Amino acid sequence: MTQAYSRIQIILHWAVVVLLAAQYLNSEAVGDAFESIAHSEAYSAGLLAGLHVYGGIAVLVLALVRLGLRLVIGAPQPPEEEPDILKRIARWTHWGIYALLVLIPLVGIGVWFGGIEAAGELHEALGSLLLVLIGLHVAGALFHQFILGTNILARMRLGA
Ligand code: HEM
Ligand code: HEM
Repeated sequence: MTQAYSRIQIILHWAVVVLLAAQYLNSEAVGDAFESIAHSEAYSAGLLAGLHVYGGIAVLVLALVRLGLRLVIGAPQPPEEEPDILKRIARWTHWGIYALLVLIPLVGIGVWFGGIEAAGELHEALGSLLLVLIGLHVAGALFHQFILGTNILARMRLGA
């Protein structure tokens, strides 16, 4: 079991945070573009819709690299003082996030490139679920940092 996240794991964690923020900001544009294509109006996928599609594929690739590193290098043990129930919630939240980071783009690819219109709702619902897990994750990180006093944020800081 490793003592700390590696440099590359930390860089990938924050790169995915930035990419995901963009995914939610430009998701309406891809929704509009998809609707215009599905109803065979003039093809009007603009820059933002393209960013959603290729930014989402980048999330998929980085998530697979992260999963590979997670399985090969591992992750540090949760802090000793963390109650067992929170350890369990954190573990499930992390794996849930990883699963969604793979599943959401795959469903998106099915919608956009496969023309499976019906999967659009699933894609959106999974996107909402990911937001819930991210909210839980951030709340957990802040609870650790400021209530339990474990200085957990240092784990995801370069050079800490
Ligand atoms: C898009 C938003 C985010 C996603 C998808 C995300 C995802 C993840 C995942 C999957 C892990 C587990 C890594 C592993 O053990 O393999 C993790 C760890 C971590 N994240 Fe995030 N994260 C996000 C935002 C944040 C933010 C905003 C913070 C800071 C407030 C944060 C702080 C941390 C910390 C401190 C860890 C290490 C936790 C530990 O070792 O127990 N994350 N993150
Ligand atoms: C983790 C990455 C992704 C996230 C978080 C995400 C998130 C979202 C969200 C929240 C929506 C709903 C937008 C709305 O209606 O307001 C959406 C729509 C859409 N996304 Fe993604 N997306 C991701 C990756 C992808 C990828 C890789 C593709 C295609 C290759 C894609 C294609 C689409 C399409 C076509 C829609 C419109 C679906 C419809 O209106 O029925 N997404 N996305």
